[in-house]
Amino acid sequence: MPQPVHILAIDQGTTSTRAIVFDRHARPVASAQCEFEQHYPDLGWVEHDPEDIWRDTLRLAKEAIEKSGVGTGGIAGIGITNQRETVVVWERGTGKVIHRAIVWQDRRTARLCAELKGEEGFEAEVRSRTGLLVDPYFSGTKLAWILDNVGGARERAERGELAFGTIDSFLIWRLTGGKVHATDVTNAGRTMLYNIREQRWDEEMCRLLRVPMQVLPEVHDNAHHFGTTDAALLGAAIPIAGVAGDQQAALFGQACFGVGMAKSTYGTGCFMLLNTGTEALESNNRLLTTPAYRLNGQMTYALEGSIFVAGAAVKWLRDGIGVITHARETNDMATRVPSSHGVYMVPAFVGLGAPHWDPDARGAIFGLTLDATQAHLARAALEAVAYQTMDLAEAMVSDGGAAPAKLRVDGGMAANDWLCQFLADMLETKVERPVHLETTALGAAFHAGLATGLWADLNALAETWTQGQIFEPKMANFERKTLVAGWQDAVRRTLR
Ligand code: G3P
Repeated sequence: MPQPVHILAIDQGTTSTRAIVFDRHARPVASAQCEFEQHYPDLGWVEHDPEDIWRDTLRLAKEAIEKSGVGTGGIAGIGITNQRETVVVWERGTGKVIHRAIVWQDRRTARLCAELKGEEGFEAEVRSRTGLLVDPYFSGTKLAWILDNVGGARERAERGELAFGTIDSFLIWRLTGGKVHATDVTNAGRTMLYNIREQRWDEEMCRLLRVPMQVLPEVHDNAHHFGTTDAALLGAAIPIAGVAGDQQAALFGQACFGVGMAKSTYGTGCFMLLNTGTEALESNNRLLTTPAYRLNGQMTYALEGSIFVAGAAVKWLRDGIGVITHARETNDMATRVPSSHGVYMVPAFVGLGAPHWDPDARGAIFGLTLDATQAHLARAALEAVAYQTMDLAEAMVSDGGAAPAKLRVDGGMAANDWLCQFLADMLETKVERPVHLETTALGAAFHAGLATGLWADLNALAETWTQGQIFEPKMANFERKTLVAGWQDAVRRTLR
């Protein structure tokens, strides 16, 4: 029997799920993908039905394996990567979820967070233990909300009858037929319940957020044998050998293994991570300190800037106001006009993330004149993504992180040449785009490949990274400064 030399990566994102089979050269050989329903039950609330996610995951995994032609026997292992922070609670006895998943974008705990922030020393404590800030973005207050609002949930949680997980944990549980309740350090590190320095669930944080520790999963390295799939599900028992939150997976998939290497991923949101090595750097600019990956017990940390809306602004142009029919049209629209004509969009649809952290801010468009067109709006939406990335890069530098000599980009929007060029101009840094933009899925595959011996080490992974296009900054300084000043003014007017 030949050795299996492919990895199945499952990338469960905020608006879509995909399954990709990679070969030993890290090339995607087959993929399947679908979008799923978003629920907005109240102002600022965002939910997913975990059963939709599970159904899609299983179907897409089968489809990708089928399309790859390698069969289950050709798959050495599964890597899972996922939208982070999103909370699922289910019954240990039956596997049934007790509430729809509360999505990372959901702001329902904003008031609770404001109260907690008001308590002296609370945020400093959160910062030093978890590397995070007090914001509804993270899982902790969302989990507490479910325990408080679903009848009997808190008592059942205390009796050990309920399990909490981010999407990775939920999928591991389902894929192993309810045998394994586990997560990895990168997902644990986004809950506000995990002590990233001592690398264990933090009793004090659980007490402060009123989360019974019985609900928490076991935490492992990213490349680890998490469990084996129930053979009835995919037609064979396959090891789940790699797990990572999607942004950390993208950093890994971009082979950003050296201190000072950075990537920015343009999906629903935009998340920029800078590898800071074994040091958990504390930010003075309200960036997050977050586990990047842990291999053989050795933690590597990153500084992260999180922007909540990137691709979501383009989706809004398409689905919300019908300015475009396809996301890819924005490239041509932005090119068609010589400038945004003074139009600025601050896409604070779900508040503003780093470095402002204002959960109550809401989206705004400034500078509209009677001759403003759809193309100006589209261009303003793309420009906003670049301006926000620039704000993050500046915060990282002033935090003492080495100024990245180049930025590696990925995610759907990174296919947009116009955006990449504008990004290089705003950052005044070289922007590097790999040939394959699915680096999030690749990062999960890398972890699973390390654990199953498909790749020997980080050097072997780095060798597979293939350079695509490079964008060099070329805008005149005066023009750049004028544009940036307009953006800063727009943000000032948006903050509450
Ligand atoms: O922290 C949220 C992030 O993990 C979501 O990623 O790719 O679904 O925008 P994405």
